[in-house]
Amino acid sequence: MQDQNKIIIALDMANEHDVMTLLRQLDPAQCRVKVGKELFTRYGPTLVRQISGMGFDIFLDLKFHDIPNTVSKAVAAAAELGVWMLTLHAAGGAEMLRAARDAVSTCEHKPLLVAVTLLTSLEQDDLTVQGVQRTPLEQVQRLASLAQECGMDGVVCSAAEAGELRKLLRKDFLLVTPGIRPQGDAANDQKRIVTPAAAILEGSDYLVIGRPITRAREPVEKLALIQQEISGMH
Ligand code: C5P
Repeated sequence: MQDQNKIIIALDMANEHDVMTLLRQLDPAQCRVKVGKELFTRYGPTLVRQISGMGFDIFLDLKFHDIPNTVSKAVAAAAELGVWMLTLHAAGGAEMLRAARDAVSTCEHKPLLVAVTLLTSLEQDDLTVQGVQRTPLEQVQRLASLAQECGMDGVVCSAAEAGELRKLLRKDFLLVTPGIRPQGDAANDQKRIVTPAAAILEGSDYLVIGRPITRAREPVEKLALIQQEISGMH
């Protein structure tokens, strides 16, 4: 059964007051929320518990990347916080990914583990400098396959790559895609943007959307419009 609650709102605000003002308007049955490094570094687990207490599923996007023992402990701590999904870097290697998977395997409410493949800010030249003789897409495909082999639940990828990855990976392997812009919205700093409907058609399972909703004059209406655009497509 496909999850109908597909939109994850990126809470990229600098202060708690703005986060709460937005969340009080939103319905946890209509969206999930992403807490990233800035918000977490400023407000920590207290804010995560508070948001969770309002009924929202939380995607904790801290992109863990460390030795297996450290990541395993960090993942267990995130699971104790009750987060719904969290990120770690596939580049941390097979042993690190398996340690993360094992750390949550017996949890009653196991968080979904989603791997970041190649940061979309990196380009061919960056790979070459690191001694990687592959194209960015080849590197994404390789790391996504590794993540699948090591028991991850999915990967974060650009919506523009989702179609290629969908062909390569298991049908139930989750594709979580940022870089989403409804028709007519500003791209902001995103380079390769995809509309919500196109992302779902490419095989995305969850859409991470920040500014188009958080900076909208009427965020609730904007979310409803996006829901409408993708309804019936999955
Ligand atoms: O405001 P916007 O919709 O661009 O926000 C997208 C969110 O997804 C931000 O939190 C951003 O950090 C995150 N993200 C991204 N591109 C990636 C990975 C994460 O935009 N490759």
